[in-house]
Amino acid sequence: MNHLIAPSILAADFGNLQRDIEMLNQSEADWIHVDVMDGLFVPNISFGFPVTSVVYKHATKPLDVHLMIVDPDRYLKGFKDAGAANITVHFEACPNLHRTIQVIKELGCKAGVALNPHTPVAMLEDIITDLDLVLIMSVNPGFGGQHFIENTYKKVKEIRELADQHNPHLHIEVDGGVDKSNAAKLVSAGANVLVAGSAVFSSANQMAMISGLKHPEKLLQL
Ligand code: DX5
Ligand code: ZN
Repeated sequence: MNHLIAPSILAADFGNLQRDIEMLNQSEADWIHVDVMDGLFVPNISFGFPVTSVVYKHATKPLDVHLMIVDPDRYLKGFKDAGAANITVHFEACPNLHRTIQVIKELGCKAGVALNPHTPVAMLEDIITDLDLVLIMSVNPGFGGQHFIENTYKKVKEIRELADQHNPHLHIEVDGGVDKSNAAKLVSAGANVLVAGSAVFSSANQMAMISGLKHPEKLLQL
């Protein structure tokens, strides 16, 4: 199966959010990645329910909500109600991760866990069969436009190995600094969902960039 592309609206033009979502609807994007930051788990604040609901209202594609917040349990239902199809919480923010994952699934959403760059993949060994998605952070969470961390390839291979053994349908998503220089290599390492914020929205031809990330053989032409 072809890998999925999830452009992050964190890098969209917020003054023209509806226009940018309509572009994503027309594009080869598969999911719309929604980055929620609380100023505590990460040093930055992005947006919450009202913006997520507006994205949902205009989007024709599933919302992939990435919660970079402390104590996400308090807000799971709120993000489901705002339109989330997938809810990803951070391993580092969840002392009772198993319970959090069960709640996300009971809400009817796909359940994901994100790992910060310093968190080893092995931390997920005992929960991997319960997950729909693992998100490997390839930058420190908090900001778009950062430099890709090379150790990510190793982590993607490790989680792919674990998934092949215990959960072959797992989505393996990479988030941060993804662009045309690393997309193909990430997919060959075993990733099957690529998040891209600035690579898409700072491109002169956003739809062509999405298409290029989806079909890496086209990237040479961009
Ligand atoms: C970073 C966010 C990312 C961000 C990616 O904390 O989780 O989803 O939007 O942006 P780029 O692709 O610009 O690194
Ligand atoms: Zn993200």
